[in-house]
Amino acid sequence: MKSFARLIILASASTLVATALAQSPSELRAKALEITSPIPDRMPGAEKDSKALVALGKTLYFEKRLSINNTQSCNSCHQVDGNKAGVDGEPTSPGALGKRGGRNSPTSLNAGFHIAQFWDGRAEDLAGQAKGPILNPIEMGMPSEAAVVEKLSAIKSYQKSFAKAFPGTPSPITYDNLSQAIAAFERTLVTRDRFDDFLKGKDNALTAAELRGLDDFLTVGCTTCHNGPLLGGNGFRKVGAINPYSNLDDKGRIDVTKEEEDLHVFKVPSLRNIALTAPYFHDGACRSLTDAVSQMAWMQLGEKLPQEKVDSIVTFLRALNGKGLKGKEALSTQVPAAGAEPAMP
Ligand code: HEC
Ligand code: HEC
Repeated sequence: MKSFARLIILASASTLVATALAQSPSELRAKALEITSPIPDRMPGAEKDSKALVALGKTLYFEKRLSINNTQSCNSCHQVDGNKAGVDGEPTSPGALGKRGGRNSPTSLNAGFHIAQFWDGRAEDLAGQAKGPILNPIEMGMPSEAAVVEKLSAIKSYQKSFAKAFPGTPSPITYDNLSQAIAAFERTLVTRDRFDDFLKGKDNALTAAELRGLDDFLTVGCTTCHNGPLLGGNGFRKVGAINPYSNLDDKGRIDVTKEEEDLHVFKVPSLRNIALTAPYFHDGACRSLTDAVSQMAWMQLGEKLPQEKVDSIVTFLRALNGKGLKGKEALSTQVPAAGAEPAMP
């Protein structure tokens, strides 16, 4: 009788699991692997970066003297010190002289995997990107490339570190070399999360709720745009594909390509670390991830998702937080189940 009762309990427990999750973790993994894969170990080009080049790039990334009044570095808007998530948490960022641009600062983490840089993809790669903000009057505000080179050339430690990073070059301190060095440092900003572990075969890397969230994310249609290893970063799409976005001021990629079809087209952002990089969208107008997901479903898929589906997808998205990263996670209420690694040790 006793063992019979136990059997019933066991049976009902397993039915519960079965109704909660229609597919086994390995079935779900196979489905996920059709549209994504683990983040690669290295960024394209990183194999050629010397230690000296990366070290110089890191110093330059944190160098406030690259701004007109020595107040601002790359790290001011893309904070990576103390394992932060590569953002400043502002809707739009104040520049060295206090003015703000019209776009949200995206994370610098994993950026080198993207198809192109900036919300509209106007820079081809990291080095091309790094040349922009230093001379941008509402960012770091330096007057010219020559002024930057002159300023750095007067600093003894840079004479040494540029010579080491660019051996055999007669005048190594150039604007181009500066951008190469910063890019080399950024190529080290690769994150890894529990979703990678799951994709690599570890069934219990995600909790049951996260697996359900993954299933919802895959089923709802988000992955027509958010796919590839970063779940984004690999293509351009119209914001408001079905229902228009509330703010149409920023015309997006049309300003780069001059093609009518690129009106309100932006790079599809990566969803890795997304719970750590609020606020959201190119104008930073959306404060919570829950709101971003329900707006996305409406704008991009024409669907009013029930709140429980939105919450379920958000639960999955939180599993994309890079291990060891710290960030403001205002919405984090979920306790990982036993057996799962904590997202942020
Ligand atoms: C004042 C704040 C600010 C500073 C300082 C700044 N950035 Fe940015 N960064 C931004 C904003 C805003 C964007 C998006 C602009 C756009 O898309 O038009 C951006 C975009 C980027 C991107 C593209 C990421 C992506 O997903 O497309 C990278 C990489 C980047 N910045 C790195 C740097 C580096 C390196 C420096 C220092 C040389 C730097 N930033 C300095 C605000 C800043
Ligand atoms: C038709 C393509 C498309 C579909 C489908 C789509 N997205 Fe997006 N998503 C985008 C684009 C483009 C952006 C950039 C929005 C902007 O520039 O303001 C974006 C932005 C986001 C952001 C904010 C990213 C950031 O860094 O600010 C989140 C979160 C997001 N999408 C999640 C989802 C989810 C969840 C779904 C499914 C419910 C989904 N998306 C469906 C194209 C798409």
